[in-house]
Formats: sequence, structure tokens, C-alpha cells
Amino acid sequence: MKKALVPGTFDPITNGHLDVISRAANIFDEVVVAVAMSKKKNTLFPLDKRVALVQEAVKDLPHVTAVGFDGLLTDFAVEQNAHCVVKGLRAITDFEYEFQMAAMNWQLHRSVETFFIMSPPQYMYLSSSIVRELASMNGDIHKFVPAHVEAALKAAYAQ
Ligand code: PNS
Repeated sequence: MKKALVPGTFDPITNGHLDVISRAANIFDEVVVAVAMSKKKNTLFPLDKRVALVQEAVKDLPHVTAVGFDGLLTDFAVEQNAHCVVKGLRAITDFEYEFQMAAMNWQLHRSVETFFIMSPPQYMYLSSSIVRELASMNGDIHKFVPAHVEAALKAAYAQ
């Protein structure tokens, strides 16, 4: 029984994240999307809303669930009995940051392995921050996020 965590801030979840999650679900027996509290990031959506948006987005994916967590990812992975962490790897700018995190996580818990799934070309430059920026300026985001996320972004920026 191989269980994997797909961690992230998911502020909010995008179609790029969903691509990584669904591909991880094709490989692992169980996938838990781990939504980080991310105190140092000033997130648009609070943790419970980010988790709810992910839960709605993954509801039709078999053996995929979503939970929030606070603290170290490796501690959460061990607590969840998930010794695989899956991250998406986009354009070259991701590499340094992801490499640093994977190396640090490996130092913290040798039993937790990080796996990377390469983004397909259409999601190479897609990020939550770009989607938030587009949404804040009334840009068309329907190609980049599920419909319920588009509605939540529109509501957030309408206030
Ligand atoms: O989607 P993101 O913002 O790139 O995800 C980053 C995330 C949440 C995976 C990373 O910040 C994380 O693991 N946070 C939990 C705290 C932690 O373990 N920090 C040490 C990592 S070296």
C-alpha cells in the first residue's frame, strides 16, 4: 500500500496542481493533498477555505483526499504514514527552490522520499500567484482553474 502526500499552499488550487495530483493518483494507492498553513505567506484564502477548494476539486478522483497541516512537512508525512512526497516541477525557476526543499526534507527524515512530476507544456508557467493576479484584474481564468475556484476568486476580489 503506497501512500503519497502532494503538499502545497494551494492559494488556490489550479489545473496545474490537479494534473500533478491525478498523475500521482495513477501511480500511488492513496494520495493525500496536504494543504500547508504557510504562515509566512500572506495567503488570499484562509486554510479551511483552501482545503475546501481542494476537496471539491478532487472529489471525483478515487483514493485522493485533502487535509490541512501546520508545521514541518516531513513530520506530517511520518504522522500520516506516507513516506513519499510528490511535487510538480515546472519551468527552470522551480528547480532551485524544490531542490533545496527536497534536500532539507531528506536531512530531516531519511525515510521520506521526494518524487517530481514534470508539468506538461500547457501548465509550465501556470501558478496560483499568476491566477490571483489575473483574477484581481478581471482577467479570464477559466482555462486555468476549476469552475468553483474561479467563482471563489471572483467573490474574493469583488469585496
Ligand atoms: O505550493 P508551495 O507554496 O510551493 O508549497 C510549499 C510547501 C507548503 C510544500 C513548503 O513550504 C512546506 O513544506 N511547508 C511546510 C513547512 C516545512 O516543512 N518547511 C521546511 C521545508 S524545507
